[in-house]
Amino acid sequence: MTGDTPREVIASLRRYLEEVRETGVEGLPLAAPAPSVSVVEASSAPAASGEARETLDDIRREMGGCHRCALGAGRTNLVFGVGNPAARLMIIGEAPGRDEDFRGEPFVGEAGQLLTKIIEAMGFAREDVYICNVLKCRPPHNRDPASAEIEACSSFMLRQVMAVAPEAILALGTFAAQTILSTKEPISRLRGRFHDYHGIPLMPTFHPAFLLRNPERKRDVWDDVRQVMGLLGKEAPGKGDRR
Ligand code: URA
Repeated sequence: MTGDTPREVIASLRRYLEEVRETGVEGLPLAAPAPSVSVVEASSAPAASGEARETLDDIRREMGGCHRCALGAGRTNLVFGVGNPAARLMIIGEAPGRDEDFRGEPFVGEAGQLLTKIIEAMGFAREDVYICNVLKCRPPHNRDPASAEIEACSSFMLRQVMAVAPEAILALGTFAAQTILSTKEPISRLRGRFHDYHGIPLMPTFHPAFLLRNPERKRDVWDDVRQVMGLLGKEAPGKGDRR
């Protein structure tokens, strides 16, 4: 995992503060230094200021009937996210497709069904984890998201991560991994190892839609999710208790 050296910690903090500022927050409360805690302990800790952490409902309410970018005009439903608001594992994809736009829920189409199988193979039920996308509205004809759309939307995803405070994140596919990690590195080089995302270990892996076209890469995804399972102390179903 990156973020071990002071330089990396400062770079991560700078990125976090820049992203927070983009959400409209102009200052953060001064607080006594917190005792050093592990990521796992931090995930269930209250906000450092002593105030209640922002909830997913707060964020959804603020998004409202969002028209911060042009995608708002073409959607059927805004696809915010689904699952356990206190999930240990958060899964982040690219943007809703046709089925998701229609249903208002992420990953419900064919790729979503494969994702559900992956989640279950990890020893979780779909309802145990929290699933969302970087973009909340469907780009027309599933084209790649435009930079104005990412700029308008991605801070909501960061706030969802802070609200859920998962112990690990799985980022699905090139677009999600590159956007979240602010890099242009290909997914083939990003996957297979943890990256630091604001103190949370993040594993990029191939998108399930890519796996549907390239089933021979399932082995790579299994290698990646096994690392996540190891971090979360999970065993494959049948060998241990679920959750
Ligand atoms: N692909 C994604 O990245 N997200 C979805 O919700 C569905 C398909």
